[in-house]
Amino acid sequence: MRPYVILNAAMTLDGKIATRTGSSEISGPKDLIRVHELRKEVDAIMVGINTLLADDSKLTVHKIKSKPNDNPIRIVVDSNAKTPLTARVLNSDAPTIIATSNKAPQEKIIQLRKKAKVIITGETRVNLSNLLQKLKKLGINTLMLEGGSTLNFSMITLGLVDEIRICIAPMIVGGKDAITLVGGKGFDYMGDSKKLKFKNSFELDKDLILCYKVLNEN
Ligand SMILES: NC(=O)c1ccc[n+]([C@@H]2O[C@H](COP(=O)([O-])OP(=O)(O)OC[C@H]3O[C@@H](n4cnc5c(N)ncnc54)[C@H](OP(=O)(O)O)[C@@H]3O)[C@@H](O)[C@H]2O)c1
Repeated sequence: MRPYVILNAAMTLDGKIATRTGSSEISGPKDLIRVHELRKEVDAIMVGINTLLADDSKLTVHKIKSKPNDNPIRIVVDSNAKTPLTARVLNSDAPTIIATSNKAPQEKIIQLRKKAKVIITGETRVNLSNLLQKLKKLGINTLMLEGGSTLNFSMITLGLVDEIRICIAPMIVGGKDAITLVGGKGFDYMGDSKKLKFKNSFELDKDLILCYKVLNEN
């Protein structure tokens, strides 16, 4: 048993979620509202440590009218407990979970525990399947995955993503070192690719939103 997982991201037409310098302001104002409405709907929101280090987002609901308990539980996937103690995700706006591995320094875990719940799973890297089972046991039924590229690949490969919602902005940034929607090692053959079923699409000003179901059983 695990939460229902929705991967949400904004990308340029050429599939980049950030430039090679880490700049990632892609969504238009209406898409940002859609993202914050989704944050409000779900029980939790999850990011990889590189996204936290790049963006230092609070991961709260603040672009729409909201109450403090509209904020989702914030989860950072961080095998080495690198989350800075000053990170905005550790503020008191909502509970935070740092998911880490046995490799993380004990001293840092003690410090993080003063500001967040720490879940240790996996020897050298966070064991995502196990983490999601633990999150379900904590009452998290719906989870929004907000990247980045590396975590997206792990979650998709492990069959842990149920839905994908993508904002495509009418921009091209190029660059082989720019970050794509799904990175990681990638599959070797198209035949191995994760298959999707188109659900719906709509326009939000200049942006195009595409929604897919992930066919994990195939
Ligand atoms: N446009 C958008 O919608 C959007 C959304 C999100 C992010 N972004 C951008 O994406 C960039 C970051 O992406 P990224 O690919 O570099 O990093 P990421 O996916 O945010 O974080 C990856 C890191 O998570 C940690 N991790 C721990 N266990 C893992 C596991 N089982 N599988 C995968 N990762 C695991 C690893 O670091 P450790 O081994 O140290 O734990 C790994 O390097 C940023 O520039 C950010 O702005 C854009």
